[in-house]
Amino acid sequence: MKKVLVLQKVRFGIVGLATMGRLHADRIAEERKGDFCLAAVADTVERTARQVGEQHDVPYFSNAQEMFHSGLIDAVIIATPHYWHPVLTVQAARAGIHVLCEKPLAATVGAARAMIDECARRKVVLGAMLQMRTRAIMKKMKEMIDAGRLGEPFRISMICSNWFRTQAYYDSGAWRGTWDGEGGGILLNQAPHSLDLFQWIGGMPTRITAVLKTRVHNIEVENSANIICEYGDAKVGYIYATTAEMPGMEQFMVCGDKGTIIVEGGQLRFGELSVPISRYVRECKIAWADGISLPKCRWRCVKLPKAPGGQHIEVIRRFAAHLLRGQPMIATGAESINELEISNAAYLSGFSGRPVNLPVDAAKMDRLLAKLERERSTGKGGGQRKRAQRQLKKLLAEKP
Ligand SMILES: NC(=O)c1ccc[n+]([C@@H]2O[C@H](COP(=O)([O-])OP(=O)(O)OC[C@H]3O[C@@H](n4cnc5c(N)ncnc54)[C@H](O)[C@@H]3O)[C@@H](O)[C@H]2O)c1
Repeated sequence: MKKVLVLQKVRFGIVGLATMGRLHADRIAEERKGDFCLAAVADTVERTARQVGEQHDVPYFSNAQEMFHSGLIDAVIIATPHYWHPVLTVQAARAGIHVLCEKPLAATVGAARAMIDECARRKVVLGAMLQMRTRAIMKKMKEMIDAGRLGEPFRISMICSNWFRTQAYYDSGAWRGTWDGEGGGILLNQAPHSLDLFQWIGGMPTRITAVLKTRVHNIEVENSANIICEYGDAKVGYIYATTAEMPGMEQFMVCGDKGTIIVEGGQLRFGELSVPISRYVRECKIAWADGISLPKCRWRCVKLPKAPGGQHIEVIRRFAAHLLRGQPMIATGAESINELEISNAAYLSGFSGRPVNLPVDAAKMDRLLAKLERERSTGKGGGQRKRAQRQLKKLLAEKP
């Protein structure tokens, strides 16, 4: 009979050890009595791998594949630029290693679907680092809407102009702001958290129309996105995201039959109607209803827990608890592709000038990216995404 190994403690490896990878390594190392520990690290830049390995006194690798097959780890956090996420996920899954992947899962839905399929086939868990879901304010907003406090939501709008970036940021890495590196702009790199919250709380759209723009920054890709969402019924949604505006703000509003919830400036306000709109529309017999006859709306600030949440370590804790005890994780791979469906649909719409239905046609998205690379790339990205894409294609064709 096949021996089933039961994990006592999750031994994490991390691939990609610059900004996010180092942060995850530090946070895991601080968590001394938890369900997990840092067991190994990897980065293609050997000096970086050695530095982080020595700092945390764990083995280090300049080849992630060697770490996956070392027997030292049970799970890996992938914190490389996103175009490497699919290759590394497939390799880890084939080595029997569970994957917690940084956002976004990939640049395209086609690659992300391949990651999800491979993890399912190899019976390893795929989760995503969508830590914004752990913010107390967002959890509360979702809880209130799911509990029916607004009745049926009919309008969801999100302004996220709080992703401001300087030109120096875009110049800080060859891959940033390029079609042949990053494979997209605000939609793919900065806004995935916002797109995920938008659909996690407001539901998944069925059709998208987008207008994409670039201003101020000297980059190839879009830095501002306007997206109109349809849901197959009377509900509508709107998202505006930019890295080129100040002062930035995060405003998230959901309107329903019984009232409105607004998240803005760190506050959650609930405007509750004395009579639901659908009932008032039917029952009010006044042709020109005015301020006196309209239902009253009582506004209040909803009390939130002291701890704001939103920490990456919470996602890691919950991922480990899922592996050890089957508890729910923050975001599964299958859920975290949703934000990518929205961004890919927005690219397809933005560059065709037409609405796009979801789920996205993966082949169409691949063709669009190849065209943008051919026609708009300055070569700054160094073709890194294409290299990763070729490697993924080869890996998937192997199917060991
Ligand atoms: N969840 C969040 O809050 C958050 C915040 C910022 C970035 N991110 C995401 O984290 C990921 C990493 O971003 P970053 O800013 O840390 O990138 P970065 O450019 O600072 O670091 C990437 C590291 O990966 C290494 N690397 C590249 N390719 C590799 C490969 N094939 N194998 C091993 N190592 C490789 C590089 O040498 C580098 O050290 C991205 O997906 C990004 O979108 C998430």
